Amino acid sequence: MLRDNTVSNTPKTIEHISGIIFQESKRLTTQVEKVLQMAVFNEGKLKLKIKEVNLNTLINSVVLNFELRVKSKNGELTTDLKANPAIIKGDDVHITNVLFNLLDNAVKYSKEEPRIIISTELDGEFLMLSVKDHGIGIQKEHVSQIFERFYRVPTGNVHDVKGFGLGLSYVKKIVDAHRGKIKVESSLNKGTKFMIYFPINIEEYGKKSKITIGRG
Ligand SMILES: Nc1ncnc2c1ncn2[C@@H]1O[C@H](COP(=O)(O)OP(=O)(O)O)[C@@H](O)[C@H]1O
Ligand SMILES: [Mg+2]
Repeated sequence: MLRDNTVSNTPKTIEHISGIIFQESKRLTTQVEKVLQMAVFNEGKLKLKIKEVNLNTLINSVVLNFELRVKSKNGELTTDLKANPAIIKGDDVHITNVLFNLLDNAVKYSKEEPRIIISTELDGEFLMLSVKDHGIGIQKEHVSQIFERFYRVPTGNVHDVKGFGLGLSYVKKIVDAHRGKIKVESSLNKGTKFMIYFPINIEEYGKKSKITIGRG
């Protein structure tokens, strides 16, 4: 309705419509979370639909959708897309979710205004996608566990950031399914950088384009 120029948008209708948009996006967020949880729990049932994916294009559209959230916290989200072309074979829906999860963490675990950089670059046989923040960082002894289901870095008695500890286990599953690798560089109170390496010249994913994760 807001996009329809023939409808006159009085402050009252705008308030009404934005209320609906707000409620519905909250509902969708919950739905997406549920789907992600199911994906992590019912391993065998998660299917990848493999096709050619341009990572730079995918990143640009995620940025358009995520920018508002960063700006509402007076932060900034920038890109440095050095890989060109940035084509891999993968599942664009899941890769988009992966990126959203990393960005969500980057915002959640930044105390001050989030400053986030997404970059791509070629690295030998791999296309590297990274998300870097200047947030609270992760202590060395916890880094190896953050990809485990339900693991959240203990914060003493302060639990001001909501989460289930499932996001990164989902991320790792999806990266594994793409035969990629994920690395983390982090230093406490300075920030964190997640790097995902997607193989570029992957031999066909078998004859089927659908991949099943886990025992499947
Ligand atoms: N960008 C980040 N900066 C600091 N800590 C992080 C970051 N991303 C993840 N973590 C830590 O790893 C844990 C697991 O992350 P995740 O699986 O996404 O779960 P959740 O965000 O629901 O807690 C988080 O609880 C947090 O302690
Ligand atoms: Mg998370």
